Amino acid sequence: MIMKNLTSTALRYESGKLLVLDQHLLPHQETWRVCQTVEMMETMIQTLQIRGAPLIGVGAALLVACLVEQGQPHNDILDGVARLRQARPTAVNLMHCMDRMAVALRQQNWQVASITCAEELFEQDQALCAAMASNGAALVKDNDRLLTHCNAGSLATAGVGTAIGVITQAWRIRQGVSVWVDETRPLLQGGRLTAWEMERAGIPYQIICDNMAASLMQAGKVDKVFVGSDRIAANGDFANKVGTYNLAVLAHFHAVPFYVVAPCTTVDANCKSGEHIPIEQRAKAEVTGVRGSFGEVSWSPEKADAFNPAFDVTPASMVTAWVLDSGVYTLNDIQRGILKGTSKNALFTR
Ligand code: MRU
Repeated sequence: MIMKNLTSTALRYESGKLLVLDQHLLPHQETWRVCQTVEMMETMIQTLQIRGAPLIGVGAALLVACLVEQGQPHNDILDGVARLRQARPTAVNLMHCMDRMAVALRQQNWQVASITCAEELFEQDQALCAAMASNGAALVKDNDRLLTHCNAGSLATAGVGTAIGVITQAWRIRQGVSVWVDETRPLLQGGRLTAWEMERAGIPYQIICDNMAASLMQAGKVDKVFVGSDRIAANGDFANKVGTYNLAVLAHFHAVPFYVVAPCTTVDANCKSGEHIPIEQRAKAEVTGVRGSFGEVSWSPEKADAFNPAFDVTPASMVTAWVLDSGVYTLNDIQRGILKGTSKNALFTR
């Protein structure tokens, strides 16, 4: 069985070939790289050439389907699944996708089952994004100035994105919506990637340095904050790109509504609270300098020490509402255990 051709902003599957848009090089170069092995996918995930919680899961699943199509030995493929499952520790979507691929690979007709499963994971992610976009857009009013952090758009998912999916849909159906884009140090996913998406969609935006959100909120220039998530614990605490918690504290202080947008695949019902979410630690060089299509620069003393947690955890008490594919939920809903059932969402288990 041959997998059908699949296309998203940052992933393409064409006649047996998996192509990944190299997000390192955006926004200045749009380079597609062929990914053929577990080692290549692992490196691409770890270096953030492919990134975003839902996309790394879907990308890894497509690579596994590729290995099946190539006729690789069954046990090697299962080992590859186990290895990819651990490529990054915080985004639970990768683990969910690899677990589903492992189940498919253990069926009697494992070739057909795993290829079908990868296709479903891709298409389900698109459907989940569309559902979140329509649920979240209903929260936005005409002329709202929205603030977002990191990149939670079509570069981070197979579909229209999570937080950026909401923002894009709101911009389509409301008048005068505009966006403050946090540049998102250290890897600049906002200034490079969200800005690239805003340009392509024609959505009015301004990039701000991460430390500018406070004074903007103080001046009454932010109406709502929408962010994505890499893992939501059962009690509603969630991990997202480092700097999200800063924004939550600021939004709380200035009474600006703060929304987290994520699909059911980001919920980890087995994780009781945020303190149990593993936080990825990354290289010091990402803090002491920067690297991209523009080259590599280091601005700190050669031996400078640095600390680089890639994510932080925002407590549930700071969230106005959780925008999921299945609906918009408040802290009350979360405390009644609503997240425990979300991974059984019809779209996901179809
Ligand atoms: O390190 P990254 O760029 O993969 O981090 C991505 C984020 O933190 C996003 O905000 C998150 O994945 C949610 S968006 C789909």
